Amino acid sequence: MAVSSGNGLRAVEKAVALMREGKDVVEAAVEGVAIVELDPNDMSVGYGGLPNENGVVELDACVMHGPTMRAGAVGALQNIKTPGRVARAVMQHTDHVMLVGAGALAFAKAVGFEESNLLTEASRKAWMNWKSRLSKDDDWLDDDEIAKDFAAKGGDLPTTKRPTGTITCLCLNAKRELGGCTSTSGLAYKVPGRVGDSPIIGAGLYVDGDVGAAGSTGRGEANIQVGGTRVIVENMKRGLPPLDAIMNVLKRVCDQTRTERLLKSKGKPNFNLTYYALRKDGAVAAASIYKGGTYAVNDGETNKHIELAYLFEN
Ligand code: GLY
Repeated sequence: MAVSSGNGLRAVEKAVALMREGKDVVEAAVEGVAIVELDPNDMSVGYGGLPNENGVVELDACVMHGPTMRAGAVGALQNIKTPGRVARAVMQHTDHVMLVGAGALAFAKAVGFEESNLLTEASRKAWMNWKSRLSKDDDWLDDDEIAKDFAAKGGDLPTTKRPTGTITCLCLNAKRELGGCTSTSGLAYKVPGRVGDSPIIGAGLYVDGDVGAAGSTGRGEANIQVGGTRVIVENMKRGLPPLDAIMNVLKRVCDQTRTERLLKSKGKPNFNLTYYALRKDGAVAAASIYKGGTYAVNDGETNKHIELAYLFEN
């Protein structure tokens, strides 16, 4: 079976098909995720992802393999459409876990990945729209025409909002082996070089081959500060069901969010964060701080979206 974020319905279907063919759990997760990375219409992941503040797309991804407990990751990777595959190559071809920036790109080229421009016309326009509205005191004119253009095409692209979309995919095969991949273009319009939670083992993804796997989407900074997926897997190891294991960490995130600009009221952050958990026996859960959204599951028979559990209604 495979579990993914809401944008991963095609990913879980592909991952299960690959596991049926006997492909390794990490390969299944990576190739499922690659469908979304290569989709220019998903502006939170891979090709067509929203860029940094300079208009450059920088991607983060990681993989972890339960049977061997090995991992690979890339941060702030430019010009390669499928950072999940590069993260897998880091795991397979090096004695390191994480490569970042220029080093990650040089590595990717060395092992055969092709460079390309990741900024699509839609993501370039979204960035220019954000940039032109930043301040009344700079030399960029606010351009309402850009927003109108998106509206005319029926899109709901961000204007001043800065989304943090991501995909995570957790896989369990018939031998009860676990693996996963998380991939993102990160926080839209971030400071160049910003690395979120997605490529960090124990934050964006953690897999313990004897226990279970967990992945995350949402505000990366908050997740890094609690080491969320590592704690979720530890919670499952000490006997908590997947949903309780997640809720415990979401409550910690709320408790540990103490900076006023990140709070909308006491104990309630002004951001969302979602965790996904898959236990070695096939038990699954996913939950967010706030109500809304779905996650994707393929249990080997059906491919479906399921509503996310949540801590707060709104
Ligand atoms: N969770 C994605 C990010 O914050 O970059």
